[in-house]
Amino acid sequence: MGCVSQLLLFGTLLFSGLLYHAVIQNGNMTSTRRPNFIIILADDIGWGDLGANQQERQKLSNTPNLDLMAQEGMRLTDFHSPASTCSPSRAALLTGRHGLRNGVTHNFAVGSVGGLPLSETTLAEILHQNGYYTAMIGKWHLGHNGPYSPTNRGFDYYLGIPYSNDMGCTDQPGYDIPPCLPCEPGSQIQHYRLGSCYSKVALPLFENETIVEQPLDLWRLTQRYTSTALDVILKARKQAQPFLLYMALAHMHVPLSPHFHVPLPSAPHPSEGAVYAASLRDMDELVGAIKNASDASEKDNTLIWFTGDNGPWDQKCLYSGSVGPFQGKWQTSRGGGSAKRTTWEGGHRVPTVAYWPGRVPANSTSSALLSGLDIFPTLLSLAGVKPLPDRRYDGMDATDVLLHGTETGHKFLFHPNSGAAGKYGDLQTVRMGRHKAFYITGGAEACSGSTGKEELHDPPLIFDLSQDKAEETTLDPTTEEYREAEERGRRAREVLLYDIATDPLLSTADYTTDQSAAPCCDRRHASCRCSSASPIDNKVENCGH
Ligand SMILES: *[C@@H]1O[C@H](CO)[C@@H](O)[C@H](O)[C@H]1NC(C)=O
Ligand SMILES: *[C@@H]1O[C@H](CO)[C@@H](O)[C@H](O)[C@H]1NC(C)=O
Ligand SMILES: *[C@@H]1O[C@H](CO)[C@@H](O)[C@H](O)[C@H]1NC(C)=O
Ligand SMILES: *[C@@H]1O[C@H](CO)[C@@H](O)[C@H](O)[C@H]1NC(C)=O
Repeated sequence: MGCVSQLLLFGTLLFSGLLYHAVIQNGNMTSTRRPNFIIILADDIGWGDLGANQQERQKLSNTPNLDLMAQEGMRLTDFHSPASTCSPSRAALLTGRHGLRNGVTHNFAVGSVGGLPLSETTLAEILHQNGYYTAMIGKWHLGHNGPYSPTNRGFDYYLGIPYSNDMGCTDQPGYDIPPCLPCEPGSQIQHYRLGSCYSKVALPLFENETIVEQPLDLWRLTQRYTSTALDVILKARKQAQPFLLYMALAHMHVPLSPHFHVPLPSAPHPSEGAVYAASLRDMDELVGAIKNASDASEKDNTLIWFTGDNGPWDQKCLYSGSVGPFQGKWQTSRGGGSAKRTTWEGGHRVPTVAYWPGRVPANSTSSALLSGLDIFPTLLSLAGVKPLPDRRYDGMDATDVLLHGTETGHKFLFHPNSGAAGKYGDLQTVRMGRHKAFYITGGAEACSGSTGKEELHDPPLIFDLSQDKAEETTLDPTTEEYREAEERGRRAREVLLYDIATDPLLSTADYTTDQSAAPCCDRRHASCRCSSASPIDNKVENCGH
């Protein structure tokens, strides 16, 4: 091909719209469509909640759609959330950086004035600047005021509750299921609880920066998120624009508000785990609907990455998920939970599936050691975009694991303290190969109410996960195996701490709170209710008839 025609072709490609970008390699020109990305982040989900992770329980799986997605894609069995609570995990996912760099080391509150520091640049900002349509649906939890809201952090569109659905303008903060199940005459549900009830809670639902519903009907939220997600996929397709859809689900965080697929006993209390199981099915159906919509749109050009923000919330007992074999027995035998808020496997190892027909090998499993930190560099790499050079990142580009089946993950993966022990953000645990070293341990509040006290370990506790998934028995410190692992962990920790200390960009989050920062559509009304002066008399319904 002559020079002139090459130039002409190049020009044509440039003008052929945002859907295509030209890649020139050694004088060869190929055109590739830039891929779409759908990140689905479940809340407080357990590794064992994914049916495909628990082969022996597949028959009882509550996640048939996710299981199918795993069968048609890749199941990542050693994938970790970047932190074990909401805000730090989400901040790390969207920046590719540990909390010690991006400043977000613990949760924001309803009255938080700040959020993810404005010096940080999100994945959405970078993709947006590079021609992507960016939308977010669900829980943000990185600051809800002014410049901190999603539409000011790179998202073209936002619909969701700005923090956890048990926070703020709820009638009973911290409750496990909404105060009353919806009245559905003729269904089994009406037998569940008799008496007057109302179906809405005082949480705000935002669209972009506007509260569009308050009080909110939690029972209808899943449907709303689903239809909005389908709209986003359709809209991007119509605009011929590649897109990022970041779906941060309300599932499986309490309060759980499932539609009931499982038979309910007529007794006033559900059988053990029935509410959680039904919620899992609801979540799974939502995932299935998104997969179907994506398949119908651009099946061969869309990566769906399903993962979790941290492990299950033990304290919620039958309203919390399953850690599978990752029981954290060293901790639980001393009191305290070993899931959410801890760096035991149950707190960090999250069910993860990558799906991209034709690109991610079908029916594959990878045990590469990966993290939510890797989503940022991997998506940028797949989009052909470079990360910013003025700061350092902790995530790795996992393209080769996803697309080419290599098993090379992180050589060292550090987990920060997210609240159960020590200082927020401290690197308290490191995974390296089959070994895991703890410098600090501590338990979160368990279902029994017990909490494990903080303990410093110098020398560290070391477990061999290949023999001991339950983290029950520590290696004998006098062995060569221990000495070698201890040495590797210590050096890696020094290297990372030095790298962080000399990072040209270290951000600090503003954690101050002020009640006026709490989102509320109309302060004259009790509990921020828009349409009622009393938390109860808005839409009182009599379920008992
Ligand atoms: C260009 O691409 C063709 C087909 O993939 C390949 O055979 C050829 O070696 C490439 N040329 C160069 C210079 O890379
Ligand atoms: C949110 O932003 C989108 C895209 O800019 C716009 O179409 C929509 O009307 C906005 N919604 C609200 C409630 O402002
Ligand atoms: C998705 O599509 C499959 C195959 O067409 C269908 O069986 C399934 O019911 C759909 N799931 C949802 C949640 O729409
Ligand atoms: C998936 O892989 C498993 C194990 O390698 C195999 O037993 C099964 O038949 C495969 N399923 C499909 C649908 O290919």
